[in-house]
Amino acid sequence: PVSSEFYRPVYHFTPKANWMNDPNGLVYHKGLYHLFFQYYPGATRWGPMHWGHATSSDLLTWKEQPIALYPDSLGYIFSGSAVVDKGNTSGFGREGKAPLVAIFTHHHPDGEKNGRKDYQVQSLAYSIDDGKTWAKYAGNPVLNNPGIADFRDPKVSWYEPAEKWIMTLATKDRIAFYSSPDLKEWTKESEFGETSGAHGGVWECPDLLPFDHNGKKMWILLVSINPGAPNGGSGTQYFVGDFDGKRFTPLEPESKWMDPGTDNYAGVTFFNTGGKVILIGWMSNWQYGQDVPTKAWRSAMTLPRELSIAESGGRIYLVSKPIKEVKKLFEKEIVIKNPAINRDIFEGKAMKGPGAYRILISGMPARDFSIVLSNEVGNELIIGFDSSSGNYFIDRRKSGDVGFEPGFAKKIPSRRVSGTTTIDLELYIDVASVEMFADNGLNVMTAIFFPNRKMDKLSIRSSPGVRPRELKIAVARPPANQ
Ligand code: FRU
Repeated sequence: PVSSEFYRPVYHFTPKANWMNDPNGLVYHKGLYHLFFQYYPGATRWGPMHWGHATSSDLLTWKEQPIALYPDSLGYIFSGSAVVDKGNTSGFGREGKAPLVAIFTHHHPDGEKNGRKDYQVQSLAYSIDDGKTWAKYAGNPVLNNPGIADFRDPKVSWYEPAEKWIMTLATKDRIAFYSSPDLKEWTKESEFGETSGAHGGVWECPDLLPFDHNGKKMWILLVSINPGAPNGGSGTQYFVGDFDGKRFTPLEPESKWMDPGTDNYAGVTFFNTGGKVILIGWMSNWQYGQDVPTKAWRSAMTLPRELSIAESGGRIYLVSKPIKEVKKLFEKEIVIKNPAINRDIFEGKAMKGPGAYRILISGMPARDFSIVLSNEVGNELIIGFDSSSGNYFIDRRKSGDVGFEPGFAKKIPSRRVSGTTTIDLELYIDVASVEMFADNGLNVMTAIFFPNRKMDKLSIRSSPGVRPRELKIAVARPPANQ
């Protein structure tokens, strides 16, 4: 019998029990990172939403905390963000202490059932004890619904040039921007997106990110969409453009995909991390997230990723890399120069633990190859490159339990952005998930899989001469007792 903890990752955040989806309220404050999340404590499927809570001093080891926000008379607590209100613009602060303020969607289930359109509104909660306990604002909601059925997921940031708060809000098929001096009074500034980007589903969980590009400000607008992702179900697109405090103007009307793997959704960034832009996503997909074969809980968050932008072939791309500190998660590396191909390179002792590793591959010719993780019952997870299509891929068709949803067993492609003749890959495997960072973060793919036994063999399949200059593998350290 499979233990109820089988598939529990070693170094990714999971709730101890029950259902989790989007990361919410990501904020750094007084030495702690706060991760709130869409949480239903009553079952391992989606239900009346709460904000679960976890904290970390390093973004890597999380401690689950008591639930922060419970549903109330205005409805379920849907996704949203949190800020440190340093200037106490909201007036929630006490005795010179800055309040933390959460801005979230109240979703009224009765309104939805009765066919109304105005059942999603934006509300506030605040904490004057550094995020430990939260009170809802008595004046909720702070932003009423103008008659749009999908009106949610406020992401609030501070816009320094105008000294005001900006709310980026998903409104069905477009993003609306609002501004406020105090988080309570919101003025609509503009809309973007009705005729831009992908529209195969509803727009959700946006984020607006400033970057420095050759001394000039450049903005990325993240927009999650469900369904309509390139590899099925839910995924996150982004637009490159300019933001002037009121309006977002895209450089190009098309969007690109942040992570064309199947399992990185609703990702948003932390407030108050200085010049660093750090994103965490929900490592699942609405197409099958409620049916995956974990027992005690459902779903995990991605690794924290530091985002930047880079130019390739004359276009600007969003670049994702795991935060540098991730290396702390692993034991000493085993280094192999010019590893053999078409036979197991590692098995047994080198692959100890429950199946959680980091694999670094450098100097791999950009020709056909497959990196294969496997086990004694013949499950295979294949990460590779196909030179005729120019695609990276993750193939989970034979990765183990794939029968819980018809679309799950698939080979997931993603067009390679870089044109260099060799490839560098970072692979983070954590029992039931893989995150691939290729070409220094220009290509990223995240996918979950459910092997019948732990994956404990590693090999490379390729033609003679197609092998990396170096391969490094390190096993994840056992999690510290929390
Ligand atoms: C995205 C989403 C959000 C919503 C939340 C509800 O995954 O659908 O738009 O606020 O999940 O749990």
